[in-house]
Amino acid sequence: MSSYATLYEALGGAEAIRDLVSRFYPKVQAHPLLAPLFPEDIHPVMEKQILFLTQFLGGPSLYSDQYGHPMMRARHLPFEITPERAAAWLGCMSSALGEMSVPEPLRQLTIERLSGPAHHFVNTESDTTAN
Ligand code: HEM
Repeated sequence: MSSYATLYEALGGAEAIRDLVSRFYPKVQAHPLLAPLFPEDIHPVMEKQILFLTQFLGGPSLYSDQYGHPMMRARHLPFEITPERAAAWLGCMSSALGEMSVPEPLRQLTIERLSGPAHHFVNTESDTTAN
């Protein structure tokens, strides 16, 4: 990591972000807490996530160039995001990075970077009425 200016570069740039996103969404779609939130056709979401993660991890500002200010918390407000869903989202990301053999501490640094927004997007308390 130390020889790279950004997580984007350390992970391997455009190709690595595409690989990460294509490993991440099948996990999301297979997760019982996350799957119900997402559309059946996940490809448009994947394309936006490639643009967003590129810029979020320090690469070119592809998302803002196309969609303007990200306003990511606002974009997530229509969905009930509980602390458990935030943890599940980060868990899917961590597994995807693991599959790519991203070494420590890079994997942990990437997860830490994503934890801020993931917890910030929580907009619903835990559902304690379940089961
Ligand atoms: C905390 C747990 C999270 C959940 C449950 C979640 C869920 C969702 C859902 C349901 C959508 C909309 C899918 C659709 O278009 O129908 C979405 C979109 C998106 N999410 Fe998340 N998300 C989470 C965290 C994050 C984080 C941490 C990031 C990035 C740092 C992120 C980036 C995005 C992006 C870029 C989009 C597409 C936005 C657009 O429509 O332009 N999400 N997310």
